[in-house]
Amino acid sequence: MPSNVTVIVLAAGGGTRMRSKTMKVLHQVGGRSMIGHVLKAVGAVEPERVVAVVGHQRERVGAHIQELLPDVVLAVQEEQQGTGHAVRVAVEALPDLGSGTVIVATGDTPLLEGESLRAFAAEHEAAERAVSVLTAVVADPFGYGRVVRDGDGDVEAIVEEKDASADQREIAEINSGILAFDASFLVEALPRIGNDNAKGEYYLTDMVQLARDAGLTVGAHAIDDPWQTEGANDREELALLGRELNRRIVSRWMRAGVTVMDPATTWIDADVVLAQDVTILPGTQLLGATVVAEDAVIGPDCTLKDCEIGAGARVVRTHGELAVIGDEATVGPFSYLRPGTRLGKGGKIGGFVETKNADIGEGAKVPHLSYVGDAEIGEGTNIGAGTIFANYDGVAKHRTTIGKHARTASNNTFVAPVEVGDGAATGAGTVVRRDVPPGALAVSAGPQRNLPGWAQSRRPGTAQAAAAEAASREAEVTSHEDDPELG
Ligand code: UD1
Ligand code: CA
Repeated sequence: MPSNVTVIVLAAGGGTRMRSKTMKVLHQVGGRSMIGHVLKAVGAVEPERVVAVVGHQRERVGAHIQELLPDVVLAVQEEQQGTGHAVRVAVEALPDLGSGTVIVATGDTPLLEGESLRAFAAEHEAAERAVSVLTAVVADPFGYGRVVRDGDGDVEAIVEEKDASADQREIAEINSGILAFDASFLVEALPRIGNDNAKGEYYLTDMVQLARDAGLTVGAHAIDDPWQTEGANDREELALLGRELNRRIVSRWMRAGVTVMDPATTWIDADVVLAQDVTILPGTQLLGATVVAEDAVIGPDCTLKDCEIGAGARVVRTHGELAVIGDEATVGPFSYLRPGTRLGKGGKIGGFVETKNADIGEGAKVPHLSYVGDAEIGEGTNIGAGTIFANYDGVAKHRTTIGKHARTASNNTFVAPVEVGDGAATGAGTVVRRDVPPGALAVSAGPQRNLPGWAQSRRPGTAQAAAAEAASREAEVTSHEDDPELG
């Protein structure tokens, strides 16, 4: 492992070709920002310090980087005067830089792998070079800095597109933008970079020439997987990188023992964790920090974000977020699991059921057409079809608690806060407003009663009361107009 490594990540540029109010490096692929992927890879070299150079939208970009890497040093580049200038700003933020290795990377290469960076740094140190360049041989080198080698194959210079001769533009080996420097040489030579070039910018790549002129060693290493150094400059490139990243992630999970019926329609974020013998059916997105235990079958057509799926569970055509599904439980088709849903072992959430903040016990079932919000359902309980947990009284949310092995009938409404005891039952169409003791049967059939003016007197100052008030005034006016004596 290379020692005393400092990493500088460049993220000050505007990324105008994204045509976005969001800075380029904050755009996401595989469930992470592009710079999030880069910072993750950077971790593999165990750096002593990481400096991020921010400029455009420095608050938002800086806050995001700090969230991912609290120890980061943020260096502000007020004006983007080139990559050499950006690195100078970073070095000025590190008065104690001294010796060791400095790696410069850009914030927009989401496929970069830690192992590649580690190997590059190790090679740089072993060869005792002043400058190392990670290069790539690409089909279309347009726009990149070209790697000019001399007769011995040693790197002579990097020439930017706009400064390159016609011959140099034919060179297919390009600068990836990832470079390694001997720290003391970097500190000494940076101020000598000029801006006498086609763009009038301070090019970091001029360090190659400066090292050569000083008789120091320069080397270049061509990466055999150019995707890893590919940056996204616009939305099309972002989508291409996203697809390739996904292809790699899906393939990694298949090699780890996951069955993926259709890799082309399966999307798995970088931080998802899957156990052996998980099966994923077509049209499935596993996002965020989702974790799936062994033998679970997910899909077709599921979107699960930050969910935890137990062993042997079966989840079909479901949209879920921050939900925990127990072992052997079944969910779907067409279920909507909102944050705070917890389904116990062997439990069931069936078709057209929406759940939120709901603890559904072991073996408990909510099989059909229901809304379960802010509820606790005990083990072995069955909730009848078309049941609504009325958790919202128009002002505040309340909880419903249902005990173990209860049997509630179809088309019930539980008006929270309310508690139903263990082994209790309800009749069809019951509106449960009062607690039901254990073992009791609750029925609530009866004639409808209207309590006039309830909203105005019990919910004063709300939009509901105002609407009721307006409607009753209108009704009054209309009844006067209809009155032949007044009309
Ligand atoms: C740069 C390299 C080029 C290489 C290419 C790889 C130089 C002079 N050129 O060119 O050899 O092939 O990257 O993609 O280094 N940035 C700042 N501050 C600045 C300028 C840039 O932070 O003042 C950041 C950008 O946000 C970006 C990165 O540095 O992340 C590269 O800058 P960019 O302008 O894209 O450089 P290129 O012209 O593409
Ligand atoms: Ca670029």
